[in-house]
Amino acid sequence: MCGIVGYTGARRAVEVLLEGLENLEYRGYDSAGISLATQEGIYTQKAKGRLANLRQRLSTGVPESSCGIGHTRWATHGEPSDINSHPHCSGQVSLVHNGIVENYMELRRQLMDKGHVFLSQTDTETIVQYLDLYYQQYKDPIQAIRQTLALIRGTYALAILFADRPGEIYAVRKDSPLIVGVGNGENLVASDIPAILPYTRDYILLEEGDVAKLTGDTVEIYDPDGKLDLPTILHADWDIGAAQKGGYDHFMRKEIDEQPRALESTLSPRIVNGMVDFSIDHIDDAFLSDFRSVQIVACGTAMHAGHIGRHLIEKLARIPVSVEVASEYRYCDPILEKEDLVIIVSQSGETADTLAALRLAKARGARTLAIVNVVGSSIAREAEKVIYTHAGPEIAVASTKAFSVQVGVFYLLAIRLAQLAGQLDAKTCKDMVQALLRIPNDVQQTLQIAADCADAASAIKDASSAFYVGRGLDHCLTMEGSLKLKEISYIHSEAYAAGELKHGTISLITDGVPVIAIATQDALLEKTISNIREVKARGGYVLVICKANTVVPEDAADRVLRLPSSVTQDLFAPLPAIVPMQLLAYYAAVQLGCDVDKPRNLAKSVTVE
Ligand code: G6P
Repeated sequence: MCGIVGYTGARRAVEVLLEGLENLEYRGYDSAGISLATQEGIYTQKAKGRLANLRQRLSTGVPESSCGIGHTRWATHGEPSDINSHPHCSGQVSLVHNGIVENYMELRRQLMDKGHVFLSQTDTETIVQYLDLYYQQYKDPIQAIRQTLALIRGTYALAILFADRPGEIYAVRKDSPLIVGVGNGENLVASDIPAILPYTRDYILLEEGDVAKLTGDTVEIYDPDGKLDLPTILHADWDIGAAQKGGYDHFMRKEIDEQPRALESTLSPRIVNGMVDFSIDHIDDAFLSDFRSVQIVACGTAMHAGHIGRHLIEKLARIPVSVEVASEYRYCDPILEKEDLVIIVSQSGETADTLAALRLAKARGARTLAIVNVVGSSIAREAEKVIYTHAGPEIAVASTKAFSVQVGVFYLLAIRLAQLAGQLDAKTCKDMVQALLRIPNDVQQTLQIAADCADAASAIKDASSAFYVGRGLDHCLTMEGSLKLKEISYIHSEAYAAGELKHGTISLITDGVPVIAIATQDALLEKTISNIREVKARGGYVLVICKANTVVPEDAADRVLRLPSSVTQDLFAPLPAIVPMQLLAYYAAVQLGCDVDKPRNLAKSVTVE
């Protein structure tokens, strides 16, 4: 949801900024722009559309500069256009913004009453105009920034240049991510780690309320009292290769292939002597015992992982679990007490709705546990406990490996909760852990059917609508499979509990409409087969995904994609089974010529409500 980058040092800033923006383009790609600080003032160039358009504009030449800021936009206020692109400038100031100024109408009116003219329709322009006003008044960047921010209601990460201070970048944040990359003779600000990786792995997580001042040689962090803070320097262990395509056509395809390793790295540190153990996460048994119910709160793919989590925890630990959409949670006055455990799931750790849900849960006194991929993200920092997934950087907007590792953590949690609740004895837990440790290999084996998936995709790619059906754990998978297909291939798609289709939606099944049935759960197989027969009888094109030895009557399906024979236990089938669904969506999108890694209108990290 908008990416910010800033560079000051000895290199040509334009190149660093463009490279940084490329690594952040997953955060939004409605437009891109840069501002460069020069002795003659600030040079700004921006362009609607992809970064390539900006590159094109810059190709005619830019002034020499070793300090600048850049932005890649996911439009909220004001359509994607050149004029609404960031940076926004006013007088001496140029800035880039990620977030939303909620009271911008009021601020805009105040400024217009003072005779100010607005060039764009953005909320951001109110910040830059006020900042310029205060800068003229105080001549002190930090004081001007503080005065401006005191007026703003909303969320922001800002990187700011002042025309009379070439070589200096100022940065500040509230509820939107921003890190300071600390290099050798060069320093950066960025929304996320991939943008700084080519230059440094050392970074500072900017605390809310602190203002950072960067020059090529120094980073100073001022707390709200104006005192210099001594920041902790963190080290990103992601290597640069992890944030690059490494020979793949798309990040999504690479990330699908990375799932076995991501699972292995997420699961194995939490298994000690054959049992689940969260010591490395500083989570003791007391934290995981004696609560009344569990509420899992998340958005998008993370919520789908939560649905699988619900099944696992309820089945194994017999604790009631509900799964809540984060954007609804706050507004439906959830029944939430100190005795409840709230599990927040988020790849980025920055999703605004999910963060707000976490804050609500904390305010109500509930225990909070976050399952997060990005180290040091807001959700990770604010939750009482955090279990980090080890997916590495996920760049493709459509989430794949982050989903798998979230599900992996739910297996661990369900087994441990079940043991603590006295629902599973130690021997059964050990057996389950063994089965869990086989999953990375099962997923690896499943990746071997990629060519079959590509072929199966060619049979559905021209459909205008598709349906995914399944029961139990398979139904959770249908939600994720369906989301993958629609978000990257733009084929309209819906997920249904297989038994629910006949209550209305079956009227949409006509000749050739694809129905993808997930049938990995033996106990529910006959029922699912009956449901797909109902679809076949109405002319639907049925694709079944099932285990290697599942008997699917020939007349019930048009095509069957089989998991490898190593997948035998139904409880552990979802992770291998999601792979063909990811591949199906991926190949359908590729065959349709879609921009797989950057689907239209989407952003990877949604830091606005
Ligand atoms: C966006 C992304 C999804 C993601 C969701 C939640 O919609 O496009 O892939 O699942 O946000 O993101 P989070 O970072 O909280 O998991």
